Amino acid sequence: MKIVAVEKGKSLVATTSPPLPRRLLVAATVAAVGAFSALMVMPDANAAASTLGAAAAQSGRYFGTAVAASRLGDSTYSTIAGREFNMITAENEMKPDATQPQRGQFTFSSGDQIYNWATQRGLQVRGHTLAWHAQQPGWMQNLGGSSLRQAMIDHINGVMAHYKGKLAAWDVVNEAFNEDGSRRNSNLQGTGNDWIEVAFRTARAADPSTKLCYNDYNIENWSYGKTQGVYNMIRDFKSRGVPIDCVGLQTHFTGGSSLPGNFQTTLQNFAALGVDVALTEVDVTNASTSQYAGLTQACLNVPRCIGITVWGVRDSDSWRASENPLLFDRSGAKKAAYTSVLNALNGAGPTPSSPAPSGSSNPGGAGRIVGAQSGRCIDVPSASQTNGTRVQLYDCNGQTNQAWTLTSSRQLTVYGSRCLDAAGSGNGAAVQIYACNGQANQQWNVNANGTITGVQSGRCLDVWGTGNGQQVQIYDCNGQANQRFSLS
Ligand code: G3I
Repeated sequence: MKIVAVEKGKSLVATTSPPLPRRLLVAATVAAVGAFSALMVMPDANAAASTLGAAAAQSGRYFGTAVAASRLGDSTYSTIAGREFNMITAENEMKPDATQPQRGQFTFSSGDQIYNWATQRGLQVRGHTLAWHAQQPGWMQNLGGSSLRQAMIDHINGVMAHYKGKLAAWDVVNEAFNEDGSRRNSNLQGTGNDWIEVAFRTARAADPSTKLCYNDYNIENWSYGKTQGVYNMIRDFKSRGVPIDCVGLQTHFTGGSSLPGNFQTTLQNFAALGVDVALTEVDVTNASTSQYAGLTQACLNVPRCIGITVWGVRDSDSWRASENPLLFDRSGAKKAAYTSVLNALNGAGPTPSSPAPSGSSNPGGAGRIVGAQSGRCIDVPSASQTNGTRVQLYDCNGQTNQAWTLTSSRQLTVYGSRCLDAAGSGNGAAVQIYACNGQANQQWNVNANGTITGVQSGRCLDVWGTGNGQQVQIYDCNGQANQRFSLS
């Protein structure tokens, strides 16, 4: 909580409704400062967050975990998972053997169990994984050539149709490279070297709303052959327009691997190709605090590193349980590594993460914010300049009350002095204009997928309808078209 004295006579809006003790504090302070000032009450963007998800959200990132459906009935497990994390990956339940056990017969019961558990708690979900040499159903393992190629395409279409519009990202292709940077000699590779790009093109057509990732392990060390092999493929894809949005670095620093000194360089170099990067399956032998803090800081130092996922909750839940590689011990207590990660995340402060995607932002120049669903512009009603005026959708008209500027500090300004401002951080909080004040509730990440997320809340700009006068709010990001906008 930050209490800011402002000149009497200026209009005041409390961005949050303080609970009673806070009100008493405010009242006492009002009395103390006397007749020449009043108080504006604002959340303190620099207050330390107490969970991993909330701490990561301060910089526009997420902090996730892999979840096993079979463990959700364990209350210690589900309590920690629901409290600490805001991104969930199904550890096994969305893989090919789980989702299409017989050819043409899709089953989503376990995957949906995880999806429903997560979204009922307001958590986002990453899809893992569609095309992989491992965990193929038996019928797929026995296919080859054009039959397997078609089976892969059918599988991607079938699974992505079920989760269409629901997932933050999909690991479209998993672990397709050898350690020396050549392609892994799998049955999928046997269908032709173009199988990976076919998978990505199929995926984009199946669900244009979700981010499409290539995911692999041992690609954290920049000078390693496998890293170079994957990097060259991503560079090639970007140069030829193959649809790819992100690279997942699994970051298994177990089984003899450890944090390389050039990890941040690797993240930066991938990001420079025009993709997001994410740490997707983190675990570290004996949960070394220095390695956990180091990998977290490396992500925080790279604007397009959008989030971190650990591969399990407690040590006993890990695929490498004997190495005790996670952030919670077997009883569910926070380990020293947990604190090292939380402190690193809190140290990042409100600095936003994703840079605006090229072509959709306009730092320094005013432009329109157009809703993808409505085709209408974000508009300040009646060209009001009054603090607290709620913004709406309206037919685009080129007037100054629809002209927004994305600044280098992530503000969206209108009329030069007013900022797009979230009047709270919960679902349904109004989005209004207010005098620019540098707080996190006035900072926005313009994301590659068309969403605009509040740095303070982590929630998306959202409208419930398409007509003139429809008011804008923030709401949990859900991948729908009413949460996508273009800056032009
Ligand atoms: O559920 C069955 C159980 O009924 C049976 O009795 C038992 C016998 O072994 O197996 C159980 O299934 C196991 C499953 O995990 C659930 O525990 C599988 O054998 C086992 O192979 C499977 O391992 C998973 C592994 O992927 C398979 O490749 C791990 O849980 C999962 O953590 C791991 O995750 C992978 C990522 O997807 C990709 N990156 C590497 C990462 C770690 O290997």
